[in-house]
Amino acid sequence: MGLIWLLLLSLLEPGWPAAGPGARPRRDAGGRGGVYEHLGGAPRRRKLYCATKYHLQLHPSGRVNGSLENSAYSILEITAVEVGIVAIKGLFSGRYLAMNQRGRLYASEHYSAECEFVERIQELGYSTYASRLYRSAPGGLGTRRQPGTERLWYVSVNGKGRPRRGFKTRRTQKSSLFLPRVLDPRDHELVRLLQRRQERQSRGDPPGAKSSHIRAPQSVHQ
Ligand SMILES: *[C@@H]1O[C@H](CO)[C@@H](O)[C@H](O)[C@H]1NC(C)=O
Repeated sequence: MGLIWLLLLSLLEPGWPAAGPGARPRRDAGGRGGVYEHLGGAPRRRKLYCATKYHLQLHPSGRVNGSLENSAYSILEITAVEVGIVAIKGLFSGRYLAMNQRGRLYASEHYSAECEFVERIQELGYSTYASRLYRSAPGGLGTRRQPGTERLWYVSVNGKGRPRRGFKTRRTQKSSLFLPRVLDPRDHELVRLLQRRQERQSRGDPPGAKSSHIRAPQSVHQ
């Protein structure tokens, strides 16, 4: 019985969260995480593994940081909103990765221009994500560079698992390089748990389960 239930859920999963009538069938190129292939299509479900060995996590509190362990908050949905521009949403926090004008990363409840990032493929399969909105102006404040070069502000997780302020980041730093990874079986299991909870909630909350976000199940240690 339980197995059938699981099978049903895994069949439902491809259309999740909202494959309404007329929605395109989901296509997922399985791990390559290219920039253009999903434009206007289904989000890529990925984890962003930083070269500093942390997975980017978006917390329900709005905090952004990295996790060395397997964590539900590091399961992300990456959607191309325009060619080369992506939105990154935490599946379990329901929040969008965002950078404010001071270069701080946060997890935003609502989608705004601060949630849009320029995704570029770099060497060795790594990608960078730079704020579309904010960058250092040519010869601007705090830049010791030749005039005429503007500097992008990258999403970055340092060697302690903490985000760096955008204006301190460089394209070539390890902390700015992310490997988009497909979900492993443990991640898929977490996603199934989440879906089951959401289904239960849509059928009517169990008492006391009201919350603006879905609580993540316990982290699974590697
Ligand atoms: C990330 O944030 C969470 C939640 O605030 C915290 O428990 C965890 O220790 C932080 N991790 C790092 C590496 O800072």
